[in-house]
Amino acid sequence: MAMYEIYSHPSLIRYKTSIFTKATVFLLIVVALTYIPPLLVAYRSHGFWLKINTYEEQPNVRFQYQVLMIVGTSTSGDFVAWSTFENFNNLQGDNLRFPLVTAMEEDQNQDGKMDRLNFRLELPLQTSEQVYSVQFILTFSYQLFRMSTFIMQCMAYTYFSSSIAGSQLSVNGDLKLHQREPLRHKGLDTRYNVSIFNDNSPFASAFDLAQIISSYQDRNVTTIFTNQYPVWTVGRAADAPFVFNAVIRYPVEVITYPF
Ligand SMILES: *[C@@H]1O[C@H](CO)[C@@H](O)[C@H](O)[C@H]1NC(C)=O
Ligand SMILES: *[C@@H]1O[C@H](CO)[C@@H](O)[C@H](O)[C@H]1NC(C)=O
Repeated sequence: MAMYEIYSHPSLIRYKTSIFTKATVFLLIVVALTYIPPLLVAYRSHGFWLKINTYEEQPNVRFQYQVLMIVGTSTSGDFVAWSTFENFNNLQGDNLRFPLVTAMEEDQNQDGKMDRLNFRLELPLQTSEQVYSVQFILTFSYQLFRMSTFIMQCMAYTYFSSSIAGSQLSVNGDLKLHQREPLRHKGLDTRYNVSIFNDNSPFASAFDLAQIISSYQDRNVTTIFTNQYPVWTVGRAADAPFVFNAVIRYPVEVITYPF
């Protein structure tokens, strides 16, 4: 005999208990396990599918009080030079000239991190000397803390030359981070905490600018002194020094890092 459905209804069964029972505790644990572990995994893995992400941080930059200067004093190759390295100065012979240097770092927003360096150098010159070109290297220590602790020694390089003799060069720019690879997202990274100058070396090759820049550029993480806007002032009084003014800003960086 064929059967057919004449009516149906779902039935709801309620299991009730008072609040302070093992069943309530069990239920709470199950609910917590349903939501919290996936959240933690998603958060701690910094995203499941992203390969590279960015964060913002103002680096902790400090001027290391290391300077190297080469100033061209004629159009036929005469120069004067000075650095904070004894070995370099010993190599200069008659071309060594001691300038007057003042450097001051400023923390403008009082957040405990320096925001800029004001650097001024006055180079005494003989009446017969004129300045046609200027090369400077200043070195810095550079630290990031937010993701990995990244510590390096880096430099700002500036070069200017003119066919008209000058009395003053002013540059005002940013010390920008340049990354050829993402930084790590945790741990301590001191790969590039190495000196720019091999200042213990008595050989001239240790202070060859092309060599210094070449080994610096081999690094995957460097800084560039950029947006410099050089201003060249001409017309120097006979006994006045040549003045080099630099404002080097330490801007907030957008840093890339991998997952
Ligand atoms: C520099 O980065 C490249 C990839 O961008 C990598 O292959 C190389 O190993 C890195 N060098 C150092 C010294 O980390
Ligand atoms: C980085 O280098 C400086 C100078 O060589 C040194 O004093 C400092 O301890 C180094 N920092 C780390 C974390 O290795």
